[in-house]
Amino acid sequence: MRVVVTGASGFIGGHLVHALTGQGHDVVPVDVNGPDRCDLATGDLTALAGADVVLHLAGRPGVRASWGDGAAAAWRDNVTATERLLAACAATRPRFVLASSSSVYGSADRPCAEDDPIDPRSPYAASKAEAERLAHKAAANGLPVVILRYFSVYGPGQRPDMAFHRFIEAALDGSPAPLYGDGAQSRSFTYVGDVVDATVRAAGTPLPPGTVLNIGHPTTTSLRDALDRIADLLGTPAPTVAKDVAPGDVARTWAGTTRAAELLGWTATTGLDDGLAAQIDWHRGRRRA
Ligand SMILES: NC(=O)c1ccc[n+]([C@@H]2O[C@H](COP(=O)([O-])OP(=O)(O)OC[C@H]3O[C@@H](n4cnc5c(N)ncnc54)[C@H](O)[C@@H]3O)[C@@H](O)[C@H]2O)c1
Repeated sequence: MRVVVTGASGFIGGHLVHALTGQGHDVVPVDVNGPDRCDLATGDLTALAGADVVLHLAGRPGVRASWGDGAAAAWRDNVTATERLLAACAATRPRFVLASSSSVYGSADRPCAEDDPIDPRSPYAASKAEAERLAHKAAANGLPVVILRYFSVYGPGQRPDMAFHRFIEAALDGSPAPLYGDGAQSRSFTYVGDVVDATVRAAGTPLPPGTVLNIGHPTTTSLRDALDRIADLLGTPAPTVAKDVAPGDVARTWAGTTRAAELLGWTATTGLDDGLAAQIDWHRGRRRA
């Protein structure tokens, strides 16, 4: 299979390229920070030629960064880029997988199902909701699109702006990391290997165009609990400094995963302690290198 992976130089995209290459696929990595320097919002899209599958992970992630000046950048990289990519695929109709986000749901008081109403509470979430709308429009015009809503992904290579990365580095350095809010906010933290597995399955499974799937661990864990686990695994606490809760930072995300189990045969299998241990190994390895 010829598979175009956008966002290939990023955290999840890098793992995805590695997995697909290992399975013998013909992988075409695309990223504005990659050797091709392809900006999907403005650039030449000939890399898409001959693709059987497009896995569209490129984007501008992060709720906090999407306020103020970040809003225009989030719109450009999450909406304009997706719109151009969908248009470029209209004639050849490869299977198209869009990386969306649990943030479109707002806050959850029970496991979210894909048909629940959305409630985006930040410019980032709104940009992902708009990318989804464009994907549904393309699906109605015959593009075989699948939308994956990823839930707080962690593991080796995690982005430096994300909570576990900050906490582990803080514990290793003994210098405090910001903790936004009281730490009671909880997330369906999902190991990157499980996310890659789900994405590879979506790439190879014929599904009704416009199918939306939650890709998240069914257990929701508070940041305080995660901090305790990191401290146990490292044998030293991660110092934190209290910061105001970030606007748009919801109290809880919670993945309902029945549909992904039914349609992809996928459930997240990596528990938080194992996943955190792998991420800690990666942080330690970087320091030795
Ligand atoms: N990491 C998470 O917890 C999480 C959760 C939900 C959704 N997502 C989504 O999954 C995708 C991957 O997330 P990640 O954590 O790996 O992010 P990342 O920032 O590590 O990777 C995104 C990549 O996209 C590239 N990119 C951005 N704009 C581009 C453009 N205009 N043209 C070409 N390349 C561009 C960046 O250079 C980067 O390498 C994103 O779309 C993100 O919104 C991530």
